[in-house]
Amino acid sequence: MSIQFRDLQRQYGYIKDAIDMRISHIITSAHFISGPEVKELEQTLADYVNMKHCISCANGTDAISIALMASGIGEHGGGSRKDAVFVPDFTFFSSGECPATIGATPVFVDVLKTTYNIDASSLQSAVEKVIREGQLIPKAVVAVDLFGQPFDMEGIKAICEKYGLLLLEDAAQGFGGSCTDVSGNRHMACSIGDIATTSFFPAKPLGCYGDGGAIFTNDDNIALLCRSIAVHGKDTQNLDDPNAKYNNIRLGMNSRLDTLQAGVLLGKFPIFRDEELDKVNHVAELYSELLKDVPGLTIPVVKDGMYSSWAQYTIQLPEGSDRKSIQSRLKEDKIPTNIYYVKPMHLQGAFRGTRSAEADCPVTEKLCETVLCLPIHPYLEDSEVEFVAGKLKAVL
Ligand SMILES: Cc1ncc(COP(=O)(O)O)c(C=O)c1O
Repeated sequence: MSIQFRDLQRQYGYIKDAIDMRISHIITSAHFISGPEVKELEQTLADYVNMKHCISCANGTDAISIALMASGIGEHGGGSRKDAVFVPDFTFFSSGECPATIGATPVFVDVLKTTYNIDASSLQSAVEKVIREGQLIPKAVVAVDLFGQPFDMEGIKAICEKYGLLLLEDAAQGFGGSCTDVSGNRHMACSIGDIATTSFFPAKPLGCYGDGGAIFTNDDNIALLCRSIAVHGKDTQNLDDPNAKYNNIRLGMNSRLDTLQAGVLLGKFPIFRDEELDKVNHVAELYSELLKDVPGLTIPVVKDGMYSSWAQYTIQLPEGSDRKSIQSRLKEDKIPTNIYYVKPMHLQGAFRGTRSAEADCPVTEKLCETVLCLPIHPYLEDSEVEFVAGKLKAVL
């Protein structure tokens, strides 16, 4: 039995014709940068998540930076005043790296033990503390849809409204997920924040064959700014003017999604929407059924009204488990596992000695010691899930 953590080869077997056709068409047309597939993809994804604009870019990290820059977040007065951006302590590095690289200060906030997502009460305390200290200007929250499940939309939005904070949804792992509000309205991941970003890294729920990312917004002006920043700050308002191409009106970056990646994503999108999300949910449900009664083991919780795209299936091992040896024993049976994440953000060396290193995040610290991610993807067979769960139980 050969179990892959995320089996892109098996997936290719199902979608080969669609992908090959897209790729060969693009190579024949030689329209490698900003080809028509890029626009087609942006429209397809904007419609899917029900947002007015989708601006594609080179990766999910740039997407966060571009979204923050377009929203005017960073430092002001030549660096004398910095914005505070509140970020969960338990996430991939980019969520906190991006605010820091544009001159803002990431302030790390604890997460919920159940969903792994940002904890509204910890956020409230962190905002209050920043206000009391009076050094930073509270400006934005980067709320992550970690492991595929959207964050607590109503709880986090209420705090953002109370303190006038921009809500940036980092849906790098959440594309395809959704949440239903108290009135019964469904909100797709990438439509939950004021502005949202995602990643098309190959292992993500909707992944391309390289790097890729996108930003989503309903704000026409922010969309124009994002488009401009993603292409060297060019003048995106006067595109009919042939000279506008080399008219750079602000500083930006070179962050385009190339046409081949757009073609791959268009080839994958129908099966992602129509089959893969259901299949990966079936895999997660089967894992949870098989593991729910293992003493001391915590299975991931999907809150009522939430639909996860299951970027990861993350368990918490029983108290006192030797995680390293569990991983090695599983590896002997050719079962790959990973640890997302080993280190809280506030303890990352990049933030040592800065305000960002000050954080009160005991849940994150504990999770970093106990989590283990099992193989998950839409093409995992029931027998493979049973094999992994059985071996894990035996090892425990
Ligand atoms: C939560 C989160 N944010 C941002 C990113 C960055 O995406 P990319 O690797 O496309 O730059 C990732 C990628 O793993 C992620 O998991």
